[in-house]
Order: sequence, then structure tokens, then C-alpha cells
Amino acid sequence: MKKVVLIVALALAACGREPVDSAPGAVAPVEESEPAYEPSARDIALSQPPTPVFAPTPQMNARRGRILFISNGCVICHRVNGVGGLAAPDLSAVDAPDEVDPLEFSARMWRGAPAMSALQTIELGYVIELSAQNIADLAAFAASPDEQQLLVADSVSDEMRTWFVDERYWMTGEWEQYRQRGEKIPNMTIEEP
Ligand code: HEC
Repeated sequence: MKKVVLIVALALAACGREPVDSAPGAVAPVEESEPAYEPSARDIALSQPPTPVFAPTPQMNARRGRILFISNGCVICHRVNGVGGLAAPDLSAVDAPDEVDPLEFSARMWRGAPAMSALQTIELGYVIELSAQNIADLAAFAASPDEQQLLVADSVSDEMRTWFVDERYWMTGEWEQYRQRGEKIPNMTIEEP
């Protein structure tokens, strides 16, 4: 700070002007500055960002959800209408709910996320990336018994079928150790569902 004051003083001296403080008896010139701006309550209100604006819920499309369920690989671990792997909870809908909440579906996925992402990393080598629209469509599919009926054995290619994971090792006691090591457990025992 002191250095700055000194530099300013030196700069002023170099211009042939004395710093005001060092001129005893000098009358400071009256500053003709604008009056301080006092924003009115209305100005303040207008300058605030609007209270959170909620994005509209994406249109949900159960049919698109059915395609995504296969193309994104959910089917390799989850079963719907008897088709799919057994490594994860069956996502068959029994009754169509009155309403589908995609956020609730995300929350459900989030609860399963630790085991799900660990298993995806091991089985697929990556964690499946989903957009908000994808989640909305998958939520609709997960809640639609009618659409789920259209998922049949033939909906899945032979190649995809070879990827099905039936081991429920995330339910075994060795899962923690499995996750820590990040590789397959040797000699794991699998309980029958
Ligand atoms: C590699 C295997 C795997 C894949 C692929 C996979 N999941 Fe999962 N998922 C899991 C496992 C394991 C759990 C259960 C974890 C637990 O209960 O702790 C789970 C849990 C869930 C749950 C919560 C289930 C419940 O009990 O409520 C939902 C919903 C879900 N997954 C949706 C999906 C969707 C949608 C996809 C495709 C985008 C997907 N999963 C892909 C393994 C997988």
C-alpha cells in the first residue's frame, strides 16, 4: 500500500503538481461529481434474476424408452417382460401408475448408482451417459406395462444377448472387495434368485 502512495506522489511530482496533502493552506477544489446513485426499490426488484424458472418436464415417450433400454445396454443387466440380464433388479412394471415422475425415476437410479456404475464400468468399460430426455423416456418405459409387452426375445440381437449379465455378484458379500479391486472375483459363489 505504502509503495503505491509513494509512486502516486512521485508521479504527481513529476507532472509538476503537488499532492494536495502536502500543500498547507491550499483549498481543495470543489468536486463536481454526480450525486451518488441510489437505486429505488423498483430498480432493485428489476435487477434481480427471476425466482428459479422451472424447465418444463420433457415430453415422455415410452416407445423411445423401449428402444433406449436396448440400445443403451440397460437390458444386459435389467430384465423386463422376461427379457434381459439378472444382474440387477427386474424393471418390469406391474401396473401403470397414474402418473410418471422422471425425477422419481432418476432418484431410483441414483439409489442404485454406486453398484450400477461399478458394474457398468466392469462389464462395459464405461458408465452409460444419459440425457434428461433419455431419462424421461426410460421412466415412461419403466412405468408402461403395454410398452414393456413389446419387448420380446427377438427385440434383442444375438450379439447383445452374449453381453447379458446374470451373475448377481453385487448381492454377494464379496461385492465390496470386488469394487475395491475393480476386477472379477475368482471363485465367487452365486446365489440362485
Ligand atoms: C452393468 C449392469 C447395469 C446396467 C447396464 C444398467 N444397470 Fe441399472 N442397476 C444395476 C444394478 C446392479 C442395480 C442395483 C443396485 C443396488 O440395488 O444397489 C441397478 C439399479 C437400477 C435402478 C434402481 C432399481 C430399483 O430397485 O429401484 C434403476 C431404475 C436402473 N438401474 C435403471 C437402469 C437403466 C435405465 C439402465 C440403462 C440406461 C441401467 N439401469 C443400466 C446394474 C446395471
